[in-house]
Amino acid sequence: MMNPSPESITSEYGTPVYIHRQELVERANRDLRDLLPDPCRLYFSLKANPNHHIGAILHRGGCHAEISSTGELSSAIRAGFDVADALYTGPGKTVDEIATALSAGVRTFSCESLADLHRVAKAADAADIVARCLLRVNGPAAHGNSAMRMTGTATQFGIDIATTTLTAADLDIDGVDVVGLHFFPVSNVLDETVLINEIVASVGHAREFAQRLGITVQLLDLGGGFAAPYGRDGVRPTYPNLRAAVADALDTSFPGWRGGAPVVAFESGRYLTCDSGTLVARVTEIKSSGGREFVITDTGIHHVGGLSGIGRVPPISATIVGSDTGGAESGEAAVVGPLCTPADVLNHRSDLAGARPGDLVTIPNVGAYGISASLMGFLSRPAPAEIVTCGDRVVAASVLETTRRDLP
Ligand SMILES: Cc1ncc(COP(=O)(O)O)c(C=O)c1O
Repeated sequence: MMNPSPESITSEYGTPVYIHRQELVERANRDLRDLLPDPCRLYFSLKANPNHHIGAILHRGGCHAEISSTGELSSAIRAGFDVADALYTGPGKTVDEIATALSAGVRTFSCESLADLHRVAKAADAADIVARCLLRVNGPAAHGNSAMRMTGTATQFGIDIATTTLTAADLDIDGVDVVGLHFFPVSNVLDETVLINEIVASVGHAREFAQRLGITVQLLDLGGGFAAPYGRDGVRPTYPNLRAAVADALDTSFPGWRGGAPVVAFESGRYLTCDSGTLVARVTEIKSSGGREFVITDTGIHHVGGLSGIGRVPPISATIVGSDTGGAESGEAAVVGPLCTPADVLNHRSDLAGARPGDLVTIPNVGAYGISASLMGFLSRPAPAEIVTCGDRVVAASVLETTRRDLP
């Protein structure tokens, strides 16, 4: 069965347009489950892609939702997730936000500090609910370099177990029941040994911290860190030794895990969605300046190239539709977008020299951290349409809109 061509999608929906392939989301979900210890729960981190049509695929595939805002909560509900099974995460949650989540049915929160636990307790107690809480742990050490480290360092995330003076008595708070621990030390770890060391270390920290605080661990969320190529060709790593290594560590520290005591969980955004998405854009103009060629397209850092603010945007690779080689001629060209800022560069040195106005270009592996992690608000340009295909059919089409409303 042929997938709809970029030409047919763009003739219907215009450019730029994100095309997500349902089969690839389903395949990534199967692949990730195959490399994780069994049994386990898998949370889909909606921050990677809050499009509810994508969430719906992963909900049908057995994932739970990991959400970090009331916007992601709305997307999760729209995607069909049962938010009673969701995990609400993030530092600095406000009492109002927690109350909104509780009234929508969320019952499990990751708490990043004692103050965070107290805020959840305050909102839960006011609603006459006992919220289930995980304490997020900041472990004492990093286990290797990674593209983005969240804990194992000085950070706003988690409770620093090397220095905390927390005691069991501190956790005895009306409105919350501390039922487990949450780890998410790193993201996008290509090196299997580094990832295994991180997760195995988390298991050890979990046992020690739970003993120290007298927590009976019912839910142990070991986070993730599963990598995926972004904005360039490539394949997801397979981590062939991870499953056995983590299962061994769990057998040692939490012997009841195979029977669900504790339930062991993992989280992923990019591994589950990144390779399902392609951005298709059109070349608007070719320009020479100072001896350099600029390929101006109708997409830029407001649509793709996520997290540019923290310097994590590798050069995005673009290929001309209908060409095997990128550019028709050899040579370098900067691929830029339409924003009025010199920062709107997708690749300073692409091989798109030879592109012509009107050409379609595709940017691969952008199903995660696409629009939602880009500068959507800057220059107030419309968002691209987001299409989901299954086989030769378009099964969903939507567009993100940002509108301003006057307050009374
Ligand atoms: C707590 C938490 N969970 C899940 C994720 C998703 O990470 P990824 O998309 O790399 O799987 C992140 C990413 O920053 C995170 O901070």
